[in-house]
Order: sequence, then C-alpha cells, then structure tokens
Amino acid sequence: MMMTVMMMMMLMNESSCVRSSHDDDDDDDCDEEEEERKKIADLTNELEKTLPTEIAYADDVDFVGLNFVDTEEVQNTLHKCNLLVNIDKTEFTTLSRAGTEYKNTKKVGTLIGDEEDVERRKRLSNAALTKLLNVWIKGDKIKRKTKLKLYRSLVKSILVYNCGTWALTKSEEEKLNAFHRKQLRKVLNIKYPVKITNSSLYNKCEEHPLSIYILENRWRLFGHILRRNIEIPANKSMNSYFATHGKKFRGRPLTTLPVVLNKDLSRLQENTLQLTTREDLEHLRCIAQNRQQWRELSTRIRKAAEAPPSDD
Ligand SMILES: *[C@@H]1O[C@H](CO)[C@@H](O)[C@H](O)[C@H]1NC(C)=O
Ligand SMILES: *[C@@H]1O[C@H](CO)[C@@H](O)[C@H](O)[C@H]1NC(C)=O
Repeated sequence: MMMTVMMMMMLMNESSCVRSSHDDDDDDDCDEEEEERKKIADLTNELEKTLPTEIAYADDVDFVGLNFVDTEEVQNTLHKCNLLVNIDKTEFTTLSRAGTEYKNTKKVGTLIGDEEDVERRKRLSNAALTKLLNVWIKGDKIKRKTKLKLYRSLVKSILVYNCGTWALTKSEEEKLNAFHRKQLRKVLNIKYPVKITNSSLYNKCEEHPLSIYILENRWRLFGHILRRNIEIPANKSMNSYFATHGKKFRGRPLTTLPVVLNKDLSRLQENTLQLTTREDLEHLRCIAQNRQQWRELSTRIRKAAEAPPSDD
C-alpha cells in the first residue's frame, strides 16, 4: 500500500507534538482525546521503529502485512490526523514464491523483478535515444564529445537507473552489453555494412561494457548499505537471507544479489573474501567502514572482471 510521504511526515510530526504534560485535570473529553493521541503515538512509534528515516524523502510509503494489510484501519487511523489516503494511487501486491505478479510492481522508479526492470529500462532509454535521432544522424556539425555527453546524460542515465540492485546472469549481462553497444553505434551513426570492433567502439566512446558499469554501481551501493545503520531493512533482509541460505529450495538456483556479489569476489586473485555466510557479511561490513579500503577492493574487483573471462 502506498501513499504520499507528506502524510507520513505529518504523522510523525503529530507524534512529536503529543503533550507529555502531567496536569491531571481529568474530564471525559480529555480522556478520549488522550486515548486518541496515545493510539496515534503508538502507531507512530511502531512506524518509527520499523522505518528508516529515509522514508521521509521517498515519495511513497509501504505497509506490509503477513497475510493482508487492513487498509481500512490504516485509513481510519490516518483520517483522525486529517490525513487522506489516495486510493487511486494506492497499489496492492502479493509477494509470494509462486506468484510473479509482484515483479511488475514499481518501487521508487524501479520494478521489483530485475528482468522486468531491465526490459523497461531498455525501452525507456531507446525511446530517449530515438527522440535525439536528428542529433545522431544529421549532427555532423556536432562534435562527437558533445554527442557522447548528450548520450550519457539523456539516454544512458535512464538505462542504468538503480542498476546497482540488478542481479543478472552472465547471458543477461551479455545481452545488455550488446544493447549498449548498439546504442553507441547509433550515437556514432555507424550502420551496416560499416563495421567497428567492440574495443574500438568502446575506445571511441570512452565507454566500458555496461556490465562493468553495473558492477561498479553494485559495489558502491553495497558499501553504502554496509556503512548504514544496522537497523535498516536491508540488514534485516541480508541476515535472513543467510539464515535460510543453504536450505535448498526446489528449482534452479536463483541469481540473487549475494550470488552475484560472491561471484565478483571469486574472480579475485589470491582471494580470501567471499559472501556465503553471515560471517562473510560481517567481515565485508568491517572493510566497508573504511571508505579507502572499500574503494581499493572495488577497484580490484572491477579489474578482475575486466580481465578476459575464464570459462565458468
Ligand atoms: C562484440 O562482442 C560480442 C560478445 O562478446 C561478440 O559476439 C561480437 O561478435 C563482438 N563484435 C565484434 C564486432 O567484434
Ligand atoms: C543486522 O541485523 C541483525 C538482525 O536482523 C543483527 O543480528 C545483526 O547484529 C545486525 N548487524 C550488525 C552488524 O549488528
């Protein structure tokens, strides 16, 4: 369930305004009011306990229930603070192992399913690329540098939005790399039958394979999360992931973020680092506290990924 964050912020303010006066001039009206305030305060405390402060900057809010979310109850409670839920803008989804419906749910501009999100990003960035077709085709007078600047800020930025959260298989990465190269060729206006090798294309565009860019983002985001307060949902879900890890579920092993991160680590030479247990996670958390060290590690990981691939 989502609603604009204004409501949440106002709700939080409401709680901080709750009087803590102890003057006991009890009357019935006041009791009722007091009870109301307590209810709101309880709800707010509950929310504050479970929500990271950043929620105040996001533009929507989620309510998660194990079986269902009593939206009426939420509405009623909020209504008492003069807050309205915009039902038209409220999205409901069911998270389940069997279902896939949730994968097309949008969260802060990103679809929950990686595959779905990548497809959407491809579509959106191609639309942006096509809009600028005149620049790429007729733009002889426009310097290549300028074109590339335009590409990076108006097209690539759309393609890679939130890409640090993607967990892609090798073949999915290859497909994305090819997609990216196709866009670059369009920017340089290189058309069949003219050919350009991958490496000279990357050189001319001062670009790298997109999978490298994604990897860098992945490790930047991971480091950021590891430096954050341990109370945030990300830590909770990482912990519960490793708590259930090893318990085999039927079906092919999923390519999840920890799997991809571990694979990144496994390419390092003389490597002692991995990410398969909670202890590994805590060890990486230690390293992440030192930004310099984390940057160095990320650089080593990138270099290992850039090296010609060994068959795995
Ligand atoms: C570029 O790389 C891809 C994937 O490695 C390969 O299939 C393709 O043939 C290469 N293209 C050229 C022109 O070398
Ligand atoms: C992360 O959260 C778990 C609880 O889910 C907690 O046990 C763990 O200690 C937290 N991480 C750190 C570094 O404290």
